Amino acid sequence: MRIVSGIQPTGNLHLGNYLGAIRNWVAMQDDVAAKGGQGLYFLADLHAISMPHIPADLAANTREMVAALVACGIDPARSILFNQAQVPAHAELQWLLSGTARMGWLSRMTQFKDKSGKNREGASIALFTYPVLQAADVLLYQATHVPVGEDQKQHLELARDIAQKFNTDFGGGSDVFTLPEPIIPPEAARIMSLRDGAAKMSKSDPSDMSRINLTDNADTIMAKVKKAKSDPEPLPSEPAGLAGRAEAKNLVGIYAAMAGISPAAVLSEFGGKGFGAFKPALAELLVAKLAPINARFADLRQDRAALDAILRSGAERARTLAAPTLTAAYEALGLVR
Ligand code: TYM
Repeated sequence: MRIVSGIQPTGNLHLGNYLGAIRNWVAMQDDVAAKGGQGLYFLADLHAISMPHIPADLAANTREMVAALVACGIDPARSILFNQAQVPAHAELQWLLSGTARMGWLSRMTQFKDKSGKNREGASIALFTYPVLQAADVLLYQATHVPVGEDQKQHLELARDIAQKFNTDFGGGSDVFTLPEPIIPPEAARIMSLRDGAAKMSKSDPSDMSRINLTDNADTIMAKVKKAKSDPEPLPSEPAGLAGRAEAKNLVGIYAAMAGISPAAVLSEFGGKGFGAFKPALAELLVAKLAPINARFADLRQDRAALDAILRSGAERARTLAAPTLTAAYEALGLVR
């Protein structure tokens, strides 16, 4: 069992990242150790340069994100925590896979369509080939499981397509790459914006009121939940009654995921009650669950030397694990080194 996943160090860690992915990283950390496997978690700083960015912010955000992940429970002794930029094999393998990835496959990626918007001609080449780097990220380590939110599913399917074609075209009868399985949490696959139940909660939303950051203090969380978009109806007593009520469904989903219970259990408690009663309960739950993470983060982020040491040692271990697969890929392609 080899678990690999990444997060872009752009801005703050938010509730969507936490419930959709990071919480699963932490949970799988114990599982993988028990099975004698290894978890690798990285900051996708090479992906972050596919969009306009400020270099000093990227460096600062990379360190902050390490602190945030450790505060969430990633243990750098048990898991390998690193940033792509310190493991050149990611960029190397991306190029080796670029001969296999097809233009048509990349053209179908919804994230590229969303992020390039109306100005496709002005989008960077990196934004277009981004999913090939993501494929390299997981194939490099022979990942068996990749815990992600729903929005990354298409990228992982592409990684499998690339692996399969590479194995067929160049494997010479044996597989160079393992086909990775996405692990998507059923309850929190897609946490939506607090301002719009049709948009996912995202770092790039210009309104900070649209998301709960893991660094928000209690007052901010209370204010954001109070202002969250909802509707005038009381909550239904069954999940089926949430159909067509995107904002209500999202808030109930967040409560369920944070409390570790099903939406049905949330509604059996709050069914018939309005948002005047539900929102304060949700805000209190969020504050209670996030406070310890918040406190650990505030501590860890101060110690830049310790954060750099975590990344350095993680990268060293990652480079060792990456080497055999990178060599196998060069050899399979007939590249003389
Ligand atoms: P990123 O940085 O956008 O998000 C990190 C993780 O958080 C999940 N996520 C969400 N889950 C539920 N609801 C949401 N609103 C929400 N927003 C984000 C994402 O699905 C993701 O799991 N391309 C990736 C980073 C990456 C990667 C990889 C992931 C690079 N290489 C290899 C896995 C494997 C990204 O931009 O995620």
